[in-house]
Amino acid sequence: MFMPLRCDQTTPWPLLQAHYADRGRHLDMRRAFEQDADRFAHFSQSAPHVFADLSKNLWDRDSEALLLDLARATGLEAHRNAMFAGEAINTTENRAVLHTLLRRPANVALPGDVPETAQRLADVHSTLNAMLAFAEEVRSDTTITDVVNIGIGGSDLGPHMAVRALEEFRIPSKRFHFVSNVDGHELHHVLQGLKAENTLFIIASKTFTTAETMMNARSALAWFTAQGGQDVAGHFVALSTNLEATRALGITTTFGFWDWVGGRYSLWSAIGLPMAIAIGEQGFREFLAGGHAMDEHFRTAPLAQNLPVRLGLLDVWYRNFYGFTSRCVAPYHASMCRYAAYLQQLEMESNGKRVALDGSTLTCATSPAIWGEPGTNGQHAFFQMLHQGADVLPLEIVAVRKASHPLPGHQQKVLANALAQTQALMVGKASDDGHRHFPGNRPSTLILLDALTPTTLGALIALQEHRVFVSGSLWGINSFDQWGVELGKVLAKDLETRWESGDLAGLDGSTAGLLQMLRTPAV
Ligand code: F6P
Repeated sequence: MFMPLRCDQTTPWPLLQAHYADRGRHLDMRRAFEQDADRFAHFSQSAPHVFADLSKNLWDRDSEALLLDLARATGLEAHRNAMFAGEAINTTENRAVLHTLLRRPANVALPGDVPETAQRLADVHSTLNAMLAFAEEVRSDTTITDVVNIGIGGSDLGPHMAVRALEEFRIPSKRFHFVSNVDGHELHHVLQGLKAENTLFIIASKTFTTAETMMNARSALAWFTAQGGQDVAGHFVALSTNLEATRALGITTTFGFWDWVGGRYSLWSAIGLPMAIAIGEQGFREFLAGGHAMDEHFRTAPLAQNLPVRLGLLDVWYRNFYGFTSRCVAPYHASMCRYAAYLQQLEMESNGKRVALDGSTLTCATSPAIWGEPGTNGQHAFFQMLHQGADVLPLEIVAVRKASHPLPGHQQKVLANALAQTQALMVGKASDDGHRHFPGNRPSTLILLDALTPTTLGALIALQEHRVFVSGSLWGINSFDQWGVELGKVLAKDLETRWESGDLAGLDGSTAGLLQMLRTPAV
């Protein structure tokens, strides 16, 4: 089993520290552009369906070269190959990490594939074919007007983000709803507009034990029966790795996936069913093809021309040397309104760790906080802080060249705004009046798609998955478990029991006081 070396224990690490102290922290991008006529060309990177301008970032060729040395010293390439080959690199759960197999064309073998791969790939394609055939049936079933996805975390964020992002490609005769919150307001509000005979419920849960999803699924089943609905098999479908549990709930129409697909990496599996219904079989296959094209780029391009690698290295540079604590994500496309929420789970659940694969405690920081909103809206809200706040917060823009709407003038404005923000952040504007002074030299990355389509979205999402892998690999952590979410779940269960019994013994003062308050009916 290959284990990467922690980057803070490699030889290039102190060299990078020295480089940062001597030169890196003094780098002024404005001067760097004057000194290096090819800076834009050098820090431009094309990858399948995606272009990125990395030149408005606080690095130069020397810092980049040292970061590439760091990547080599940790064994990034061997770790990447081990992931693609199906080795159990998720060591705390002893699982392979094979979301890339979900988008691998049938019959393609990779060097080093573990022996189970051919069977796994055959299973992937037979489930995919069945899931897509079902999606096509639903699309042509005119009695189904509403599709309700019930799921949370990776069983919600991916399909929700993608169905919204690809609304131009969506079948117009159906509405799509996403219920994730256990707060009954959400489900109640959705159910109010529905008729049982016209609704398809998709219960999406990798484990089929997630408390929020199980509660919402039971409530939806109860509502369906109360409305006179009888054909549960025709109106409820379950997506899970735990098909036994789906049957225990009375759901017999099911599509499975496998424990080697992480929840936050599962959009490409049966969890993508709402998306497949929305954009159809061909669209879903194009999405997979976009992801696969990015996989091939990540797997085969030299590190220095590898977009996920360059982004991941920049993430490490910013987090561990500049000490930047967050990354703002701003898509300049209104349909990408769930993109930041999706990336939050991808990055923070993957890399929000402080213990390395070998169990040792890291000496360096890991995941930045990810946050954001569509760009134009952000400009009129939190961009003030990006331009003039006391903290430097790197910005990552996604811009789309071609609009899919016919309204004249809008797209040029959107793109000019995206570009102007990166320009303003870097160039700044000197003023003797401190209130009007823009310090500039603030970093941003611009990711550009020609159009927002299933293919380009697939490439973009795979790019983000792989850049998270790169920084996680350098930090030497397991990016594929999420033990940090468990304690809260256990305590919530315990508090529900105490709620019934009134037993406050052993609770801390605040929790006991609040539980006592909550047990008293509100007036
Ligand atoms: O609690 C965290 C988590 O396990 C995520 O990793 C996952 O995406 C989400 O819950 C939902 O899990 P499931 O798909 O098993 O319901």
